[in-house]
Amino acid sequence: MAFDEMKFKDIMGEFSATTEMIREVASNFRKDLQLGLKDVSSSSMRMLKSYVGLPTGKETGEFLALDFGGTNVRVIRYRLEGEGHSKIIRHVAEPLIVAGEYDYVGKGSTAEQMFDFLAKLIDDTIEGDHETKFYLGHTFSFPSSQDDLNNAKLIIWTKEFATSGVEGEVVNDLLTAALKRRGINNVEPVAVINDTVAVLLSAAYKNSDIYVGSIYATGHNTCYLEPSIHDPKGVGNGGMILNLECGNFMKLTPNRFDTAFDLKSEKPGEQRFEKMVSGRYMCELFGMAIAELLDEEGKHYDGLTAVDMSMIISDISENLEKVSEVIESKVGHKLEVDDLKKIRELASAIVIRSARLVTASYVGIIWQRAGDGEIVPQHVAVDGSVYEKMPLVQENIKEALGELLGKDAEKVDTILDNGGSGLGAAIAAAMAVQ
Ligand code: BGC
Repeated sequence: MAFDEMKFKDIMGEFSATTEMIREVASNFRKDLQLGLKDVSSSSMRMLKSYVGLPTGKETGEFLALDFGGTNVRVIRYRLEGEGHSKIIRHVAEPLIVAGEYDYVGKGSTAEQMFDFLAKLIDDTIEGDHETKFYLGHTFSFPSSQDDLNNAKLIIWTKEFATSGVEGEVVNDLLTAALKRRGINNVEPVAVINDTVAVLLSAAYKNSDIYVGSIYATGHNTCYLEPSIHDPKGVGNGGMILNLECGNFMKLTPNRFDTAFDLKSEKPGEQRFEKMVSGRYMCELFGMAIAELLDEEGKHYDGLTAVDMSMIISDISENLEKVSEVIESKVGHKLEVDDLKKIRELASAIVIRSARLVTASYVGIIWQRAGDGEIVPQHVAVDGSVYEKMPLVQENIKEALGELLGKDAEKVDTILDNGGSGLGAAIAAAMAVQ
C-alpha cells in the first residue's frame, strides 16, 4: 500500500514544534516556576523540596547507592575519593520484570515483594556481610514529598508502575522493614533523592557551573538549584535543589495523539509533558500514528519501543532494510521503500519535537535563574538513554538552545552525566552523615 499523502502531511504537522511554539513553552515554563515559588499549588509542577544543596566535591568514604526508578534496579558500593573522583567497588543490577518469571511493577505485585527484592540485591552487593556498618543513599525516581533528606513519601507512581501498597508510604520505611526481614541490621538508609537530583549532585561533584540536572530516558524530569530556599533541615551548599517533577508540566498544547494516548494510559491527566517527550511514551505516539497511516486506527503494536525508533532513524541505507525489518516484525506489514521513508520521517519528527520541548523547559529554568541579570555560563547535566543514544536528540537540543537563547547560547551546553543516578545517591549519603 502507499500511505495517503494528505494523512501523512497532517500527522507530520501534528508533531511539528516551531520556534514560536517552543518559545511559548519556555516562557510558560518560567511563569509556572515563578508561580510555584510563591505558592506551589498554583504551578502545574510539584516543585518538591529535596533538602539538599550542592556538594563541595570533598565528600569521601564508602557508601551504598540504591538506584530504583526504571526497568533495572542497581545497587552499587562506591568509594568517594574527593576532588570529584570515585570508584565502584561492587555493582549488582537486575531487571524488575522478567517475562514468565516475575514482575515487581505490574498490577498484582505488592510493596512487600518489591522491597524484599531490593533487600536481596543489597545483600548481594554487601556479599552477605551483616556486620560492617553501611550508609545507603537511595535514588527513588518518582514524585515523593519530603520533610527532610531521608523521609520521602511516594505521592503517585509514574512510568506505568502499578505495585500496590507503596503510594502514600515512606519508601525508606518500607526498605528498612525489608532489610530487617532479611536479617540486615547494618545497612542504614540515610538519604532519598530523585534521579534528577542525583544527576545534579554527581555532575556538580565533578565540575563547576552546574545548576540544572535532568533525566531524559524512559521517564523525563528536571531539577535545579534554587538559591532563595534555605531550610535548617537541609544539607549542602547554596540553597536547595527543587525536584520540579516537570513531567507533570501542563501549560502546553498537546496534539490529538498526545490526548488520545493520555486517555488510555495508566494515569490519565497526569504527566502530560512526560507523555509527549520521554522514551516510554514516544514509541506509543509513534505506534498510534503508524496505525492511522495503515488504516488500523486504535491498533496497538506490542513491543514497539524507543529502541526501535532509534534503529529506524539510524537507517540511512537506500532500501531501508532495517526499517523494513522492524516494521515487519513489530507492526506486521511489509512496506514499500517510499512508505518506509515516511515511517522514518515520522519517527524523526516525534524525536525532534521531544528534544525541542525538553530544551524549552531547560531554557525556562535558565531564564528564571538569571532573573533580570545575565545568564551565567553553565552546563545542564543530563543522564538517560534517550539523551545518550537516540539519534537527533543532542543536535536538536543544541539547535533549539540557539533559537531560544541567541548569543547567550554560547554560555550554555548540555553534558552527559552517565551513571549519575547511582553516584549521586552515594554523594547524598555522604552529605547526610558528614
Ligand atoms: C518521575 C520522576 C523521575 C523521572 C525520570 C518521572 O516519571 O515522576 O520522579 O525523575 O520519571 O526517571
